[in-house]
Amino acid sequence: MSLFAKKSLDQMLLQAADDEKGLKRTLGAGNLIALGIGAIIGAGLFVRTAAAAGQAAGPAVTISFIIAAIGCAFAGLCYAEFAAMIPIAGSAYAYSYVTMGEIVAWIIGWALIMEYALGAATVSIAWSEYLNKLFDNRIPYEWCHSPFESFTDSAGILHSGIVNAPALLILLLITLLLIKGTQESAIFNAIIVFVKVAIVLIFIAIGWQFIKPENHTPYFIPADTASVTDNAGKVIADYSGWNKHGWGGVLGGAAIVFFAFIGFDAVSTAAQEAKNPKRDMPIGILGSLVVCTILYILFGHVLTGVANWKDFVDPEKGREASVAYAISNFMTGYGWLAQAVTVAILAGFSSVILVMLMGQSRIFYTMSNDGLIPKVFGDLHPKFKTPYKANWILFIFVGLFAGFVPGHVAGDLTSFGTLFAFVLVSLGVWILRVKAPHIERPFRVPFAPVVSILGALICLAMIVGLDVQTLTVAFAWMILGIIVYFLYSKKHSKLNHK
Ligand code: ALA
Repeated sequence: MSLFAKKSLDQMLLQAADDEKGLKRTLGAGNLIALGIGAIIGAGLFVRTAAAAGQAAGPAVTISFIIAAIGCAFAGLCYAEFAAMIPIAGSAYAYSYVTMGEIVAWIIGWALIMEYALGAATVSIAWSEYLNKLFDNRIPYEWCHSPFESFTDSAGILHSGIVNAPALLILLLITLLLIKGTQESAIFNAIIVFVKVAIVLIFIAIGWQFIKPENHTPYFIPADTASVTDNAGKVIADYSGWNKHGWGGVLGGAAIVFFAFIGFDAVSTAAQEAKNPKRDMPIGILGSLVVCTILYILFGHVLTGVANWKDFVDPEKGREASVAYAISNFMTGYGWLAQAVTVAILAGFSSVILVMLMGQSRIFYTMSNDGLIPKVFGDLHPKFKTPYKANWILFIFVGLFAGFVPGHVAGDLTSFGTLFAFVLVSLGVWILRVKAPHIERPFRVPFAPVVSILGALICLAMIVGLDVQTLTVAFAWMILGIIVYFLYSKKHSKLNHK
């Protein structure tokens, strides 16, 4: 029984072809691009663009988007090659089972839990914030924050979070929808994607006329920019660090906006539900990435042109709900748009959560079919053919994070899990090219070794850039995963018991 036992590709494809008990193949190329955009445009664009501009990149956040997109594009190409070649549910986990063996597959599956489950938790926390904003902050602080957060109001009364109830509510609604079925979820997703993209386009088109060239000059944050303090004199933005001004700041900004790209790989988790995966997987993955990159650059250009980037650090100006701030303060006559944007953002976040939860349940489904996690994760609903038990377990797990952990903690761990998967997928493509050159590859990464190595290096660099606390928690999570593997998964693995 080897730790590095690999599944053969034939074995995987056979498994995928087992239509009777498998997932239904209902998704076309258009659905897949929509699925990708549904997962991609979310808290990253509507929250982190302004944060990156205000804290590190200034108007050059447009270049930060380009850098983050290049890193993602390398990884995206590698995902596309795998997803077309091995069109089964499970994404990076499934690919590494073929290329690098069981223990690596397990480790990556474990890391993907951070990406998808914690990604869903992060965005549901952002959803809760925007809902509160829509209600003019009328939801009591205690019921929309985790117990790790507190705040002293102007009367000097200390409020401590109890549970983030709205985050739990949106998770519950999306879980119910997912159980109902992939087709229904895809229709819901397509409607939201339409609304979300429309609002981004409207903002770009109308906002363009309100761009003030002086907001774009200088384009990079100058090295001698004074730090910013809040009313109590606490420093809330300091530009002296290498990654806080000039070109360094553009790199710092790229790490911040990276979150905005997470999700294009989610398309690959639905490979088993695609009608024609060989052709449509690359279209879905790369298509959604290209569309989003273009939208992001234009959006960043308009946002930093309409409002000055310095406003995005000021808590009394545009630090929160930056887009609504820019519209209501600088786009005279378009107050209605600010409200519409908030509603669209809420809807947009819902579709990100949907794709993340769906991706996670599909990964669980595949891992359970392999025997690495209990069979209950693979049970399909007799009528809806969805892994409904996995959806419920996931709701509880994700809910624990969404209800009881601060958003930025979940967010940073999401980035770690994603980057880790990107590194292994990038290397995996290269390994499989060397080891199994003759397998039919409907889509091939151009300049494979170079793209693989660059993809892995850029993502590794971003991992190194995460803060120490995040890396420590991520490390502990990975150790726990290895313990689970030896106590349970290794003994139950189907591959190891043939
Ligand atoms: N890319 C997704 C978002 O920005 C995770 O919300």
